[in-house]
This record gives sequence, structure tokens and C-alpha cells, in this order.
Amino acid sequence: MTGAGVSAESGIPTFRDALEGLWSRFDPQDLATPDAFRRDPALVTRWYDERRINCAKCRPNAAHKALARWERHAAGLGARFTLITQNVDRLHQRAGSRRVIELHGSLFEWRCAQSGEVIECPPDAFGDYPPTTPSGGVARPGVVWFGEMLPDDAVAAADDAAGSCDLFVSVGTSAVVYPAAGYLHLADAAGARTLEINREPTPASGVVNWSIQGNAGDILPAFVAAAIES
Ligand code: OAD
Repeated sequence: MTGAGVSAESGIPTFRDALEGLWSRFDPQDLATPDAFRRDPALVTRWYDERRINCAKCRPNAAHKALARWERHAAGLGARFTLITQNVDRLHQRAGSRRVIELHGSLFEWRCAQSGEVIECPPDAFGDYPPTTPSGGVARPGVVWFGEMLPDDAVAAADDAAGSCDLFVSVGTSAVVYPAAGYLHLADAAGARTLEINREPTPASGVVNWSIQGNAGDILPAFVAAAIES
């Protein structure tokens, strides 16, 4: 399972890092809740659209590529590899990961706030905020906001993967946002071995079998190479 730390080396800000984290510069109550969208749809949609355009300009880093490599290797062995991500930036897919569960949705899939109809995003910024849909509705980003349920299909797939894996790896997440942070505990309770790779200790560090501190872009490629070659 991955979090924002995996994309930090691609130039995408995390949420809770002290200086550059998004939630140290912006109040999530103003931008990442259904109420915020109702109060000021133009502000909220502009902010998410700027994030979409910024993410589109960033490139997958060595950590994303290592996870894609691990999945290809597992597929060759007939083993199951599932990537649960809290990230909405699509960098895992662009690095070649196939089986990706987007627990918090995606910046690249917008939909009508009323009907749920998915709309196509332009390659550049929408320009008008809030964007409107072809049928005249108001569009919203396909991300999960605080106070919203996670997508049912993503939760079912993540429950299944975490509850039946041999090894659960948590990378680049502060492990404080539930239900995502609960998957490590689910895997642990089901008998999986658990590993954390993160730049700093988190609440998960005391729970996992192994905790490695460092940058995902350094540790993951080395770890995956060792796992594949062993
Ligand atoms: P956070 O910003 O909470 O945590 C990122 C973690 O990555 C921190 O523990 C950092 O120390 C670590 N980190 C930073 N750079 C790293 C690097 N290069 N290598 C390894 N680790 C690094 O981000 P998330 O845990 O993803 O939800 O946040 C979870 C959710 O909270 C997000 O999906 C978002 C946010 O509010 C929603 O918007 C619904």
C-alpha cells in the first residue's frame, strides 16, 4: 500500500510533511469536504484542477517503477500482487502497474456532482470553474473527500487483498488516515508479514515486522531487486 511519500520524489507534495505538505499550507476543511464544495465550488474545483495539471507534468520515479517491476515479476511466477494506493496522481499506472486499487479515487476522473456521470477531462486546465458537464451539471473531481465513503469496489478489493496476502508492504504513508491505515492491521491479524518503508517513523512502525527508514526511491528499487534476485 502506498501513500503520498511514494510520489514526493516526483515533485508532488505530500499532505502532512511540516513545510511542503499540502495540509500545512491549506485547510482541508476549505478544500476537501462536500461542504467546502457546496460553499465554493469554483475555489474547490480550481484547486483540484491545478493539482491534476501539476501531476500530469510530473513523472513516475524509481519507487513507482520498482513496484511495477515487482508486479511483472510476480505475474511471471503466477503469484498475486495487488497495489493499494491512497494516491490520486495516477503515477503508478504510468509507471506500468496494472492491478491498482485507487482507494481515494483519482484526480483524472471527474464526474457530474448530481448524476455521477463521468466526464472527459481536457488535456489542459478546464479553465471555467466549476466546470460544467455536457448535460449542464456541475463537475467535481473523482477524489474521496473527508466525510465521504470510499468507493465500494475499491474497499472490497482492498479487503480481499490485505486479508489474504503473505506480505504487506506500507510505503510512504503517515499511516494516520483510516480506513486506509487499517489494512496493515488487517493483514497482520490475518497472519501476513509486514514491512514499512518510510522517511520517518509512523504509528505503524511499532506494529510491523520490519521497518526501514529512508526515501522510497532509494529503498524500494534495492529491496525489489533483492527480492527478485533471491
Ligand atoms: P502524508 O502526507 O500524511 O504522509 C506521507 C508520508 O510519507 C510521511 O510519513 C512522510 O514522512 C513520508 N515521506 C515523504 N517523502 C518520502 C519519501 N521520499 N520516501 C518515503 N517516505 C516519504 O500522506 P498520506 O499518508 O498518503 O486523503 O495521506 C493519507 C491521506 O491523507 C491522503 O490520501 C489524503 C490525505 O488527506 C484524502 O485527501 C482523502
